[in-house]
Amino acid sequence: MKKRLKPLIVGNWKMNPATLARAEKIFVDIQKGLRGRVAVSDIAIAPPLPFITELQQLTGSQKISFIAQDVSAQEVGPHTGEVGTSMLRSIHVRASIVGHSERRAKGETDEIVNQKLIATVKEKLTAILCVGEKERDNAGDYFNVVEYQLSSALKGIKAEDLKHIVVAYEPVWAIGTGKHATVLQAEEMRLFIQKVLSDIYGRSLVASIRVLYGGSVTADNADELLRAGKADGFLIGGASLEAKEFVSIIKTADHYAKLS
Ligand code: PGA
Repeated sequence: MKKRLKPLIVGNWKMNPATLARAEKIFVDIQKGLRGRVAVSDIAIAPPLPFITELQQLTGSQKISFIAQDVSAQEVGPHTGEVGTSMLRSIHVRASIVGHSERRAKGETDEIVNQKLIATVKEKLTAILCVGEKERDNAGDYFNVVEYQLSSALKGIKAEDLKHIVVAYEPVWAIGTGKHATVLQAEEMRLFIQKVLSDIYGRSLVASIRVLYGGSVTADNADELLRAGKADGFLIGGASLEAKEFVSIIKTADHYAKLS
């Protein structure tokens, strides 16, 4: 049986909230909610980039890392609006989400996702690589979709770089819809993702890669997705903006971290 990995809980704030003051309030409330907790799961928050340095000043005793929601495939140069990996590193940001479906919906191709992944691991930052089908059909085509997304994203990624990669299975139909994947669907896809990775890199290396689940995760469904779905953690949108809800999910994950 696969050893349980330490859960990673990531809050993806997307383009929320509208002001720094509101972001600070949410972050302070999360920290208050976690007060006294003996840290066991890993926690990260991906706020809008302009808020990161201010939020870093508010960090208390709870270890919460800040990560980026996206990253450029370019290093520096004439790329208006983009932010490169070395810029992230220089403000102590050590990870980024890559290939989120909301970026893919705006035209990010598998090729661009691959270039971003290469740029991220080259700088030794962690990439949270998002994959997931738009819809579920009866023929099981969603497996092909995820396999293609994975294999094209990982083109040129060497085995020794795998330690910088976390995969997040985020079925697009479950994102922001309130309709999360069933534990069976989540568990089945996690196993499939591990198989695809094992076919490329071999089983032993893949055993330590975390496969998160994302898509309408709440305090109500977190326990079953961790227990029965055996997720290695979550990528959480809406519920990560509600301090109480996010804290509750973290505490649920802490229970499983003790089993890891
Ligand atoms: P959600 O978003 O939790 O609001 O469904 C998840 C995500 O987009 O990462």
